Amino acid sequence: MARNKVTVIGAGNVGATTAQRIAEAGLADVVLVDIVEGLPQGKSLDLAEAAPVVGHDARITGTNDYADTADSDIVVVTSGLARQPGMSRDDLLAKNAGIVRAVVEQAAKQSPNAILIIVTNPLDAMCHVALKASGFPRERVLGMAGVLDSARFRTFIAWELGVSVEDTHAFVLGGHGDTMVPLSRYSTVAGIPITELIPADRLKELETRTANGGAEIVKHLKTGSAYYAPSAAAVEMVEAILKDKKKILPCAAYLQGEYGISGLYVGVPCKLGSKGLEQIIEIKLTADEQAALNKSADAVKELCTVIGVA
Ligand code: APR
Repeated sequence: MARNKVTVIGAGNVGATTAQRIAEAGLADVVLVDIVEGLPQGKSLDLAEAAPVVGHDARITGTNDYADTADSDIVVVTSGLARQPGMSRDDLLAKNAGIVRAVVEQAAKQSPNAILIIVTNPLDAMCHVALKASGFPRERVLGMAGVLDSARFRTFIAWELGVSVEDTHAFVLGGHGDTMVPLSRYSTVAGIPITELIPADRLKELETRTANGGAEIVKHLKTGSAYYAPSAAAVEMVEAILKDKKKILPCAAYLQGEYGISGLYVGVPCKLGSKGLEQIIEIKLTADEQAALNKSADAVKELCTVIGVA
C-alpha cells in the first residue's frame, strides 16, 4: 500500500516548513518544488537527513521538474513573493497571480485528481487564479487563511484569559486581509462564549490585533513574513483531508449563493474530508456581521477584477 503523496510548491520559508511538518507528522511523502535550481534539492536532502533522528520514513524529494509531482493527492501552493515591510498583501497581486497561474497549470496537468490548497497571498484572489488555471471543481481548490487567522485570535484570547490555547476556539470569517471578520460571538473558551469573559472594548482590541496579525510579524522580521503559524495551519488542512476527518475549519471557499454571495472566494466554515470541501457550514449572522462579510467579499472582488479573474 503506497503512502499518500503531497507536493509543496515553493521551497521558501512557508513551503519548506510545511514540507517538514508533513514529513515529521508521518502524513505523506513530500515533493518540494521551486523555480530556483538546487533550493528544493538542498532543503529536501537536509530534511531527509533529519528523519533518522526525528523518526519518520516519509520520502522527501526536491525538484524543479513537475513530472516528479505526478499523482499527488494534495498540492500546496506557497510559491510567490513574500510581503516586505510597508508592502500590503495587495501590492503583491499581479506578480503572484502570474506565478500561481504558471505553477497550478503545470501541477494540475500532472495530478488531475489532486486537491489544491493555496497559501500564496493575496490569498482569496490567488484562489480564483488557481480555480481558473486548474479547471478543477470548487471542492478541490481551497485557500488557507481562516485556520491561521483563527489560530492568531485563539492565541490572543488564551493569553488574555490565562487559559490553555487548546480550550480556545475562535471563528474568523471573510477575506484574508484587513477586512477579515473575527466572530467573537461564536468564539469560546471551554464552550463559554468569550463575549461573557472579555469586556467588549478589550475584545475589539484583540480582534484588531488578529486582523493585523500578519503585518505585526512583518514589522518585527523586517525582511520576510510569518511562516511557522501559516505552515501549521496549511498542514491542519492537509491532515483533515488525508485522514478524511470531516473537520470543520475556516477556509477560503468558492461561494455559490452561501451567505448571499456568489462567484467569490471568501473565508467560511468548511467541512474538510477526503473529497476536499465536503460542505460549507452556514451560520446565522447579525446584520452588522453580514455587512462586514459583504465588505470583505467586495474587497476580494476588487482584486479579482484587477487581475481579470472575477
Ligand atoms: N515556481 C516555483 N517556485 C517559485 C516561483 C515559481 N514560478 N516563483 C517563486 N517561487 C519560489 C521562490 O523561489 C521562493 O523559494 O517561492 C518561494 C517563496 O518563498 P519565500 O520567499 O520564503 O516566501 P514565504 O515566506 O515562503 O511565503 C510564500 O506564502 O504566506 C504566503 O504571503 C506569503 O505569498 C507568500 C507565500
